[in-house]
Amino acid sequence: MCILDVGTGYGFFTIELAKREPNLKIVGVDICQNDVVNARKNVEKCNLGGCIEVVEMDATAMSFPDENFDMVVNFLGLEDIHMTRGKSGVEKTFSEVNRILKPDGYFCFTVMPPEEMETEAQKIEVVLFSYICNARWLSAMEYEAMFERTKFKLIEKKNYYTGKKLTAAQARSEIRFACENVPKIYGINTRSLDEVWTKYGKEIEENGLGHYSKVVLMIAQKVS
Ligand SMILES: C[S@@+](CC[C@H](N)C(=O)[O-])C[C@H]1O[C@@H](n2cnc3c(N)ncnc32)[C@H](O)[C@@H]1O
Repeated sequence: MCILDVGTGYGFFTIELAKREPNLKIVGVDICQNDVVNARKNVEKCNLGGCIEVVEMDATAMSFPDENFDMVVNFLGLEDIHMTRGKSGVEKTFSEVNRILKPDGYFCFTVMPPEEMETEAQKIEVVLFSYICNARWLSAMEYEAMFERTKFKLIEKKNYYTGKKLTAAQARSEIRFACENVPKIYGINTRSLDEVWTKYGKEIEENGLGHYSKVVLMIAQKVS
């Protein structure tokens, strides 16, 4: 079985897949050269070079031939594709995924639709990153509409509560990382750490900051 991981980052999800299913052939793609270099190092460290290949590529314009993969996965990367390529880029990614999937192939991804956020810490997580760098979290309905337009049918939607929450000190360092690195990685301007902390620091001190605390898995199948 041949799987593509779009927005593979440092390759963590790809590596977990390969560890569980050693017979898979997995290709991870990412637009960021630095992430690709780190993903390759991580793959080598885990001795998984034989089954994982990591390639620098934009998910909205992939160079793979049609009907090449059995399954395409994405772990919390669509929001980043939204940052680099906008909402139309996310839809273009869906079209590309459809093109390179074999007939009846599956597209499985996890996202954080804002309407699913329940606790204060989760809600701050979503508004905070929108404030820092204009990140946008699409609703589950927006993804479902994209499925229709790009010829997928939704097979399953499942919520996972990780409950992961950062303390104020951890949140501050996570925000500092985003403020320093988003401009370097994506060329997108961000607010300063001080601006962000002035606006949200008190709320974070009171509630903590959700950190991928609730994710939604969507599984769609290519419609022939
Ligand atoms: C949150 S990280 C993904 C984490 C990763 N899936 C994991 O399992 O650890 C999102 C990734 O999407 C990548 N990305 C953003 N825009 C992209 C695009 N247009 N095409 C491919 N990758 C993109 C970023 O460079 C970043 O590495």
